[in-house]
Amino acid sequence: MHHFQYKDGVLYCEGVSLEGVAREVGTPCYVYSHSTLIRHYRVMEEAFSAFPHLICFAVKANSNLAVLRALVREGSGMDIVSGGELFRALRAGADPTKIVFAGVGKTEREMEYALRVGILMFNVESEQELETLQGVACRLDTKAPVALRVNPDVDPKTHPYISTGLKKSKFGISIKEAVKEYEKALSLPCIEVKGVHCHIGSQITQVEPFVDALQRVLVLVEELREMGVGISYVDMGGGLGIQYKDEDPPPPSELARSVAPLLAERDITLILEPGRVIAGNAGILLTKVLYLKKGELKDFVVVDAAMNDLARPSLYGAYHAILPVVEKPLGGMVADVVGPICESGDFLAQERELPALDRGDLLAVMSAGAYGFTMSSNYNSRPRVAEVMVKGGEFWVVREREAYEDLVKGERIPAFLLEG
Ligand code: LLP
Repeated sequence: MHHFQYKDGVLYCEGVSLEGVAREVGTPCYVYSHSTLIRHYRVMEEAFSAFPHLICFAVKANSNLAVLRALVREGSGMDIVSGGELFRALRAGADPTKIVFAGVGKTEREMEYALRVGILMFNVESEQELETLQGVACRLDTKAPVALRVNPDVDPKTHPYISTGLKKSKFGISIKEAVKEYEKALSLPCIEVKGVHCHIGSQITQVEPFVDALQRVLVLVEELREMGVGISYVDMGGGLGIQYKDEDPPPPSELARSVAPLLAERDITLILEPGRVIAGNAGILLTKVLYLKKGELKDFVVVDAAMNDLARPSLYGAYHAILPVVEKPLGGMVADVVGPICESGDFLAQERELPALDRGDLLAVMSAGAYGFTMSSNYNSRPRVAEVMVKGGEFWVVREREAYEDLVKGERIPAFLLEG
């Protein structure tokens, strides 16, 4: 459920017409629905309310300060993967004791930053990382709270680029090696073992892979507890899918119902790291048709947004529904929706059935609230687009469109090139 609906033939985000947003802010821009974000967070929160849990929003999905702030106000924690994401989370007012830090390549500097602000725990992904964290924590005369990220070797049945829990994956520690690594962690005086972490992938549309993974993790938890290791947290990562086209992902309540029996009477706080399921359908990319172009084999709709603004179609062949802002019946044309970038891979949709479009028509690229703006770049020296948040009948520009000056920020021409 989201709040992008037609009213009298015009697409609205909550009470705001997307035509109005385009007129005032220009295109392309991302538009986020505050009510949808909050609703998704609350659905997740309610689903898991029967047992101790903490929701840590995956900042990588959407790291706009206003989005983070909206979730912080709901009580959300944050799942981060870099010092930059930690900076953003804190800037948005996140409680450091609700922040978990994953990623295979944390630097000492990032570790120090996170230790100083007092995050909940590091999700450690290798033995060398553990040793490095031990060094940094001892130097700061503190103890680093950790979970080891284990790799349960479960197939999440999703796109290979976003499957992360398989044996061949770069993420985590093999579950078979885990006991050995926990023994190692216990021997390190500046490391405090707190939990077990796993994350098996993203855009998962079934409950079974989550249940499989959790079962395997809980076997490990029991083994560790028998060894006297105090495990208070099981972090099962994120990954719950959303509907882009005809997927039928389980609602959070179904996931919660499936994992509840596994967690009963275990004295464990469950951590969840949802990203897409909260932000995905809370945002769209608003774009305008520049040109209609007839090729020899295909027709093209050239729009002002491109793969640098929304990389998912080019990168994963991802499907995003595209709706005309002013309602028109489908069936007028079949075309590729492409951007201005000089790459054949620059498309938002391929061979898509569309209404008969005209130059200047506005289009909404749906389900773009997660991994949309956060994966955008300045490729082809395109300024990054504006981000807008709607609440009720009002909207706010929550990130300004970049200017040409922003493109060269920090660049310098050395003096020798200025001579002569
Ligand atoms: N936790 C960890 C450790 C993760 O690596 C991820 C996502 C999440 C949580 C959040 O997963 P979610 O609930 O959003 O599925 N760019 C890709 C998705 C990459 C996901 C990477 N990790 C896309 O656009 O589909």
